[in-house]
Amino acid sequence: MELRPSYPVRTERLLLRPLTVADTDALLAYRGDPQVCRYLPFAPMDRRVIGERFAGVWATTALTDEDQAMTLGVELAATGELVGDVVLFWRSREHRRGEIGYVMNPDHHGKGYATEAARALLRLGFDELGLHRITASLDERNTASAALARRLGMRQEARLVHNEWFKGEWSTELVFAMLAEEWAAHR
Ligand SMILES: CC(C)(COP(=O)(O)OP(=O)(O)OC[C@H]1O[C@@H](n2cnc3c(N)ncnc32)[C@H](O)[C@@H]1OP(=O)(O)O)[C@@H](O)C(=O)NCCC(=O)NCCS
Repeated sequence: MELRPSYPVRTERLLLRPLTVADTDALLAYRGDPQVCRYLPFAPMDRRVIGERFAGVWATTALTDEDQAMTLGVELAATGELVGDVVLFWRSREHRRGEIGYVMNPDHHGKGYATEAARALLRLGFDELGLHRITASLDERNTASAALARRLGMRQEARLVHNEWFKGEWSTELVFAMLAEEWAAHR
């Protein structure tokens, strides 16, 4: 099992590809925004933090073993603008489990770009890596994220009450999931 996408990964309106230093300003515009980061597991990022990630976690462009995460920039095919990024985690080789995450620039919310990009990640995870199950975990108050998981055809499986101490308060976590056979039917 491994995943080595040929870049860019194309969808109807988007190109998914590794992040580069040239994306710094575009990343800062949304990853530096406190509202965008409200339910993300990190504080608003500054230029230094973003700079460190290029050689760190964002340098992973293929999944060759479990416990790796591949973050891809989401670019509008029509304009070349970076409008967000998505991540595929490979959680377990033995159980063929993965997880997805997503974050978009608010200027580009409400156009279905996150759905389109996340659907491309599900395709990579199920069809190319051969995962059996992919999940998405989110704060219950993050209704936009839950709506996105549902649009993708994921099922809510769990509601974990006050499961995490998150940014100074208890967070109730929802877990959504999809199985490979559900993906095949949904697609
Ligand atoms: C979660 C997040 C990515 C969702 O973004 P979003 O803009 O709601 O999602 P999409 O890009 O898929 O857009 C969906 C909306 O576009 C509409 N839409 C328009 N054209 C569409 C199309 N071609 N396809 C699908 N939806 C379309 C949908 O009807 C939906 O509208 P609604 O919100 O009024 O129901 C965004 O809120 C975000 O970045 N949040 C901050 C980061 C975050 O919390 N990430 C998740 C952590 S768990």
